[in-house]
Amino acid sequence: MAFVTSPRRALRDVFPYQPGKSIASVQRELGLKVVVKLASNENPLGPSPRAAAAYRRLDKRCALYPEGASPELRSALARFHKLDPESVIVGNGSDEIIRLLCEAFVEPEDEVVVSQHGFIRFKQQAAMMGARVIEVPMTDWTHDLELMAKAASPRTKLVFVANPNNPTGTYNTADEVEALLKAVPKTALVVLDEAYWHYAQTIPGYPKSLPDMVREHENLVVMRTFSKAYGLAGLRVGYGVGDPELIGWLDRIRMPFNVSLPAQVACVEALKDSAFVKRAVAMNETQRAHVARVLGGLGFGFGDSATNFLFARSPIPGRELFKALLRQGVIVRPLDEYGLPQHVRISIGAPAQNKALIKALQQVLAVPA
Ligand SMILES: Cc1ncc(COP(=O)(O)O)c(C=O)c1O
Repeated sequence: MAFVTSPRRALRDVFPYQPGKSIASVQRELGLKVVVKLASNENPLGPSPRAAAAYRRLDKRCALYPEGASPELRSALARFHKLDPESVIVGNGSDEIIRLLCEAFVEPEDEVVVSQHGFIRFKQQAAMMGARVIEVPMTDWTHDLELMAKAASPRTKLVFVANPNNPTGTYNTADEVEALLKAVPKTALVVLDEAYWHYAQTIPGYPKSLPDMVREHENLVVMRTFSKAYGLAGLRVGYGVGDPELIGWLDRIRMPFNVSLPAQVACVEALKDSAFVKRAVAMNETQRAHVARVLGGLGFGFGDSATNFLFARSPIPGRELFKALLRQGVIVRPLDEYGLPQHVRISIGAPAQNKALIKALQQVLAVPA
């Protein structure tokens, strides 16, 4: 039977997001028992124990629909950031906030400014709306916010800045972000995606976006996620913070029950688990330094990372390395979809996972252990 209708024109050039390969799929495909995943920047310590305990306590309440606007989590986030609940929207991952921003503000032919090797979901989502995506070159693998400001015009609706950026691991300073906010037309919303905030926030010069910058700039939206430092990627919760009127538009068009009840409850508890987050960030720092030293010795090239992953130029093409490591039971992320065939992104694991990575790399690159 032939398919009877046609999708929207804008969708014809849109390619689906390629997530990191899952452990289960590698086990199935290669018949391996032990597989280490270092491909999606998840938390190798697992979930926040407080969040996991709250999730387990839910039982009977799962028969009922959750409250649609996640009011308890929204209030908890507002207290956490010293802002009003009306400034916060909770989403099915920060991915949903990206989608809502595009659906709420981008008409076909509007412009959306992104960075050349910025997080790929921004341009995918903008393209789905039929927007003109303006891709601005990076400088030293870092967003060039001056150039991005120059690229913005009165037709620009959104300027997406992942800070720090995935996949390059670099960050922009508060001064650079302030200058961008001042330089873009007031009708352009600047979206700061701070998915890796916990790993970067102590770096001198890194922006204090919440609550300070959001209070000062009505054209700023900040996004954060529970998927990284809180260890809750599987629950799918992220949030956006900005001017209440802007947030109101996103709230109006979100799915009626966009965040599940267990996810809402667990995230309220996760916010209280600062001890866990501290442990995760500390382990990441020591392990990242260790993995970087070893990778450097194996011929990889890279700069500093402000995140829980390393962005590395591989001694062999990235996809070849990816495939060879898969056969050793280690999943990393090739970056050809970012136009970077020689690079890979490697999440920092717990010590045992990193040891497995290093052993597999030595095998693949035929280096004596
Ligand atoms: C920069 C950036 N933004 C957003 C996301 C999506 O996060 P979430 O799990 O909250 O949808 C990711 C996930 O890797 C990311 O790296």
